[in-house]
This record gives sequence, C-alpha cells and structure tokens, in this order.
Amino acid sequence: MATNRTVPTEEPVVETLETTSALRRPAAADLSNALRELLADVFALYIKTKAFHWHMTGRHFRDYHLLLDEQAEQLFAVTDDLAERSRKLGARTIRSIGDIARHQRLKDNDEEEVTPNAMLSELCIDNRHLTNLLLSTHRICEQHADVATASLIETWIDEAQRRSWFLSEIVQHL
Ligand SMILES: [Fe+2]
Repeated sequence: MATNRTVPTEEPVVETLETTSALRRPAAADLSNALRELLADVFALYIKTKAFHWHMTGRHFRDYHLLLDEQAEQLFAVTDDLAERSRKLGARTIRSIGDIARHQRLKDNDEEEVTPNAMLSELCIDNRHLTNLLLSTHRICEQHADVATASLIETWIDEAQRRSWFLSEIVQHL
C-alpha cells in the first residue's frame, strides 16, 4: 500500500544578512556611547601627542620627538579599528572634529609654550587616564558579552600602559 508519508527533511537554512549577523542589531546605547567617547579620547590624545612631537624642544629633542611620533602612530592605528568596531555593532561613531570636542574626556592643551618635561608628564597622565577609560569600557563590553570588542580593548590597554611606562621612566629622572 502506497503511503503519503513524506520523509521529514531538514528545513533548508536560508541565511540572510539579517539572520546571520547579530551585529545588524543596534548596539546597546551604553556600549555605543562608550565607544564613541573612547574614540573621541583617542583622537584627542593623538592630536596632543602629535602636537608635542611637533613642538618638542631641548637637549633630548631627537629622542623625545621620535618617541612621541611612535606613540602618535600607535594611537592613530586605534582610531580606525575602534570606529569600524562601532559600525560592526550597528552603532554610529565620530563624524567630525566638533564631534570629537563634544565627546572627549581627555583635555586639550592649547598653551603657547610647554616645556619638554611638562609635555611628557601630561602625556603620561593622559595615557593612564585612557587606560582607566579603556577598563571601564571593557566592563561594559563584558556586560553585553561582546568578547570581540573586549579583546581589542585588552590590546589597547597594553599599548596605553606601555606608553605610560616609557613616559614615566623618562619623567621620573628629569
Ligand atoms: Fe613628524
């Protein structure tokens, strides 16, 4: 006797951009804001480091000038990864210099004259401050189980601590 039974087959998995990627969902507001502020801080510190590189003076000009260029390059490399990470999460990010100014927590330095010692001390403090801001953003990532952003941030924490270390070793012997 013929049966009408059909062999159950697995539903074909139709993968669309929406179904395959949780990243299409808008990021949680707190995480998205934290990443935007962090990017503003990194840009602010990048500009300050570069400005001190340009305006460095004194006996150790070459060493300090080159050190700050190296540190600025490291900070600049963070900006693109950080902005694109926000976009992967469906969040908006920094759009302009004005946007940076509205969101940065690290302070600018517009002084006409800054001594080499003051430059290096200020950058050391800023990098330590940035480390704390990275740590607080890392905690937000953990709350949202965002391991990929947390992993990037861990690398940036190590880099910020390395910058602080180099700067503090110089500053404490000045
Ligand atoms: Fe340069």
